[in-house]
Amino acid sequence: MNLSGKTRICALIGDPVEHSLSPVIQNAAFKHLGLDYIYLAFNVRADRLKDAVSGIRALNMHGLNVTMPHKIAVIKYLDGLDETASRVGSVNTILNSDGRLIGYTTDGVGALNALKSADADPSGKKVVILGAGGSSRAVSFTLAEIASELVILNRTFDRAKDLKNVLRRVLGNELRIKAAPLTDEYLKKELEDADILINATSVGMKPNSDDTPVKRDYLRKDLVVFDFVYEPLETRLLREARLAGAKVIDGLSMLIHQGAASFRIWTGMKAPVEIMMDAALKRIKQLKSSASNNVKEDAAL
Ligand SMILES: NC(=O)c1ccc[n+]([C@@H]2O[C@H](COP(=O)([O-])OP(=O)(O)OC[C@H]3O[C@@H](n4cnc5c(N)ncnc54)[C@H](OP(=O)(O)O)[C@@H]3O)[C@@H](O)[C@H]2O)c1
Repeated sequence: MNLSGKTRICALIGDPVEHSLSPVIQNAAFKHLGLDYIYLAFNVRADRLKDAVSGIRALNMHGLNVTMPHKIAVIKYLDGLDETASRVGSVNTILNSDGRLIGYTTDGVGALNALKSADADPSGKKVVILGAGGSSRAVSFTLAEIASELVILNRTFDRAKDLKNVLRRVLGNELRIKAAPLTDEYLKKELEDADILINATSVGMKPNSDDTPVKRDYLRKDLVVFDFVYEPLETRLLREARLAGAKVIDGLSMLIHQGAASFRIWTGMKAPVEIMMDAALKRIKQLKSSASNNVKEDAAL
């Protein structure tokens, strides 16, 4: 890597960011294509977000990823939004275009490309999505227009209902969108004839990796099961879906495809998705082996 005064700086801002795989993924892509770019990660507290955005301008940084808890709050400090970010009301990517900071969201396209790359195009299919938080919202905007039916199930029913109403208002009343509480009764009923199940809740995420949002009895061979959670890589939901013979897609695929879309916005180039995936898997393996070494060392003490 030949860093110089001309090197373009990209970075992630969020809180926390220490465990993010984005620096590994993006730097591997820059290196592979020989681009004079570098990607860093900055922990930015919510009360310093405004200062952080001023810093981006002052330092003329080129591109940003934005993660929790800043995806909505950052909008007020930007100069413009692309159409999708403006519809969704959330930003995960910023491009510094000649001093103007423009916000984008690549969550929806990331999920769509993860599905397509697993040969599970959701066009014309019935999709059941669990959760009505930030990621469900971004992805639902993309899916509602292309799926034959979108069913949103959420623990807090009112949030599912609100999301359905927003989607209808923005995208059109004729779309087939349903909202219901996330209960066994609705899961059983809606999964019977569904093609794709997406978990956009945090259920099953480390340290609660024994949890699953769906009983294994409702999983079957001709269902595609996509879990946004990527820690652990194989959640209990994905393990049980795999054992039921379903096609499974993990959260790392979503992370990579969403990062690939950000990469394209910053560089104008197609991202080397396989290189990014290899780099992420290598890092996950390293982290696992250093964690198990630590356990061994602790046991030896
Ligand atoms: N792979 C990727 O690239 C990627 C990208 C984005 C997010 N994610 C993952 O996706 C998950 C959701 O992220 P987000 O940004 O959408 O979070 P969020 O905005 O905080 O939403 C969380 C969602 O999970 C639901 N939930 C939380 N605990 C639950 C429980 N015990 N039982 C049932 N539902 C529960 C919430 O339901 P209520 O409304 O009832 O609270 C809400 O719908 C996280 O695990 C995140 O790490 C992955």
